[in-house]
Amino acid sequence: MMYQSAALALLASMMPMASAHYFFDKLVVNGKASPDFIRANTRPIAYMPTKWINTFDNTTPDSTDFRCNVGATNVGAKNTAKVNAGDELAMTLGVGAKMEHPGPAQVYMSKAPTTAGAYDGSGDWFKIHQETMVNPGADPKTVAWSTWSKDRVTFTIPAGVPDGEYLVRAEHIGLHGAHGGQAEFYYGCAQVSVSGGNGSLPTADLVKIPGVYKKADPEVNFSVWSGPKTYPVNGPGPKLATFGTASVGGSEPVDAPVATPVSGTAPVSSPVSSPAPQTGSGSGNGNGEAHNAENCKGGKKTRRHARDISKN
Ligand SMILES: *[C@@H]1O[C@H](CO)[C@@H](O)[C@H](O)[C@H]1NC(C)=O
Ligand SMILES: *[C@@H]1O[C@H](CO)[C@@H](O)[C@H](O)[C@H]1NC(C)=O
Repeated sequence: MMYQSAALALLASMMPMASAHYFFDKLVVNGKASPDFIRANTRPIAYMPTKWINTFDNTTPDSTDFRCNVGATNVGAKNTAKVNAGDELAMTLGVGAKMEHPGPAQVYMSKAPTTAGAYDGSGDWFKIHQETMVNPGADPKTVAWSTWSKDRVTFTIPAGVPDGEYLVRAEHIGLHGAHGGQAEFYYGCAQVSVSGGNGSLPTADLVKIPGVYKKADPEVNFSVWSGPKTYPVNGPGPKLATFGTASVGGSEPVDAPVATPVSGTAPVSSPVSSPAPQTGSGSGNGNGEAHNAENCKGGKKTRRHARDISKN
C-alpha cells in the first residue's frame, strides 16, 4: 500500500512534465489527422525540446537538425500531403499533449528543389503563420498567449504560395526558462505538395535554419516572470512573408500581399490568415477566463518545471 501510493505520487509528479513537453506528430488535412506526412524525430524521448544550454542531446538552435528535429533532416516522411493553396491545415501534438508552456508559435515553409521527401531544408525558409501574446494584460505565464493549452497549431497555406513541394515547419517556443537563456524549442516538419497557388515565392524576409534565431533576440530572451508585459509584435524570426503576384491577369485590384501584422493589431485583408484571436473560440478573453481556474495549476506546473530546469 505504502509502496503503491508512493509510486502513484511519483507518477503524478512526473505527468505534468510529460504533458507540458511535446512534439508534432500529425498533419491535419481536410479535417483528417495523419502521421504519414510528418518526419519523425529520433530523440530517445520524442517530446524533449531543443535549447541552447543544458541541452538534452547536444542539439541546439544552431544545429542542422534544428530544421526538422533530431534525425529528421535527411529522412523523409512516409508520404507527402496534397494540399491547395488557401487550405487550412494544422499540426497536432503527440501523446495528448497541450501547449502548456507559455510562448509563441510560428510556421515556416521552404520549397524543395525536387521532392519534399528528398529535401534537407537547406534552402530559404519563409514564415506563413505567427501566434504571439494576444492578452498582454493577462498572465504571461499562461493565458496571455494564444497557444495556451491548445493541442495544435492551425494555419493556412497562403493563396500566393506557388505550386510545388515544400517542407512545412511548425514550432512552439516555451519561454518559462527563457530569462535564464533556456527557451525551449518544440518543432517538426510536414511534407506538402501545393497546387492552386497564384503568387510567386517571397523575395524578402527569408531565413536559413539554423540561423533564424539568436540567443540575444528579444523574442527568445524574454522573461514571463515579472507580470503583464508586451511581446515583440512580429514574433520570433522574420516577418510574415508576402507573395508576388505572378500572373495577375486582368483588372482585379490586388488587395492582398501586405505583411500581416501579428496578433494585437487589427488584421488587414491578406491571404495570410492571421492567428488565434479570430479563429476558433472567439476572443482571447472568453477563452482566457474559461481557462483561468485550471491555469492556477498550469502556473504552478510551469514554475516547478522552470525550477527543475534551472537546477540542471
Ligand atoms: C538577455 O536579457 C538580459 C536582460 O535584458 C541581458 O542581461 C542578457 O545579457 C541577455 N542575454 C543575451 C544572451 O543577450
Ligand atoms: C489569389 O487567390 C486568392 C484566394 O483565392 C485571392 O483572394 C487573390 O485575389 C488572388 N490573387 C491574385 C493575384 O490572383
